[in-house]
Amino acid sequence: MRILVTGAAGFVAYHLIHSLLKEGHVVVGVDNMMSGQERNITDLKSEFKNQFSFIRADINELAPAAIAANPEWASLLSAQTNAAAAKNFERVYHLACPASPPIYQKDMLHTLDTCYIGSRHMYELAAAHKARILIASTSEVYGDPEVHPQPESYRGNVNTVGIRSCYDEGKRAMETMGFIYAEQRGLEVRTARIFNTYGPRMSPIDGRVLTNFISQALAGEALTVFGDGQQTRSFCYVEDLVRGLRLLMESKTTDPVNLGSQFEFTILEMAEKVVHWINPKLTIKYLPLPKDDPKVRRPNTSRAKELLGWETKVSLEEGVGKMIASFKDDLARKG
Ligand SMILES: NC(=O)c1ccc[n+]([C@@H]2O[C@H](COP(=O)([O-])OP(=O)(O)OC[C@H]3O[C@@H](n4cnc5c(N)ncnc54)[C@H](O)[C@@H]3O)[C@@H](O)[C@H]2O)c1
Repeated sequence: MRILVTGAAGFVAYHLIHSLLKEGHVVVGVDNMMSGQERNITDLKSEFKNQFSFIRADINELAPAAIAANPEWASLLSAQTNAAAAKNFERVYHLACPASPPIYQKDMLHTLDTCYIGSRHMYELAAAHKARILIASTSEVYGDPEVHPQPESYRGNVNTVGIRSCYDEGKRAMETMGFIYAEQRGLEVRTARIFNTYGPRMSPIDGRVLTNFISQALAGEALTVFGDGQQTRSFCYVEDLVRGLRLLMESKTTDPVNLGSQFEFTILEMAEKVVHWINPKLTIKYLPLPKDDPKVRRPNTSRAKELLGWETKVSLEEGVGKMIASFKDDLARKG
């Protein structure tokens, strides 16, 4: 198949694209590099020479007329008709959007634009290609949840005017738009509500909790825990997530589906585990809790299990072990 992946230089997209290319699919990636890593693109290009093309662009700029006016974009992204229609995309995985709070909060309007305007462009593109589109939504649509664990039927407790709302409300609008495109334009839309995911190739400086802990521990620094560390999260290994995304894409399921781990830890427990695994002499430093930080977070994954036959397979010990090993390799490469 010919497949478009947005946010191609990002953490999840790297693993997704790698799995698609390994099976012989042809992938076009788009990314503006705001939170992606250059080496993800160069590594994919060198391992899969003729199967992978990359466009450096902001999806907010990829309106249909702008694509048509730019020869490079048009040759890779424009829908063809008649005989050339075989070259059209059959699938669009729409992952573009920074996932890390410090990054998406730097330019909140841009984040909101990415979720709304950028997503609108990607729905239009998918419609022109008659492609099925999967959108990377998030557990953040549940906000600071009053129902625990969160099933897809829970409608959330989101602050419309907080520091996380550009992302949370942006993703909610992206879901709404997907519903409208499906209802009124006949587009095939799949909605993944992704919960905290981790693994190799997360950017060590993106400020997400596990990357912070591992980077700090490997540098011999104290681990920083926000608040008293009693807020909970569940952590899904990226290989499990990618399997879930691909199963969802190829399923008939049009309702949103939670993808995440069932195993819930307090942030303090996670910090203590990382200390234990990397260097038991390290200490933990407490910082003020950021505003609107959710107190609990764990998916109800019954729908994924029932409709996709999906559940996580990789244990936290195994997954974090792989992530620590890859962070050590990266440090050694940098010298
Ligand atoms: N990783 C998680 O725990 C998690 C949880 C919930 C949802 N998600 C969603 O999954 C997707 C991928 O997350 P990730 O962890 O790989 O994040 P990431 O930040 O590593 O990747 C996102 C990629 O999108 C690119 N991007 C951002 N805005 C763009 C724009 N306007 N135009 C083009 N490219 C743009 C970034 O440069 C980056 O390469 C995101 O949509 C995120 O919201 C991830």
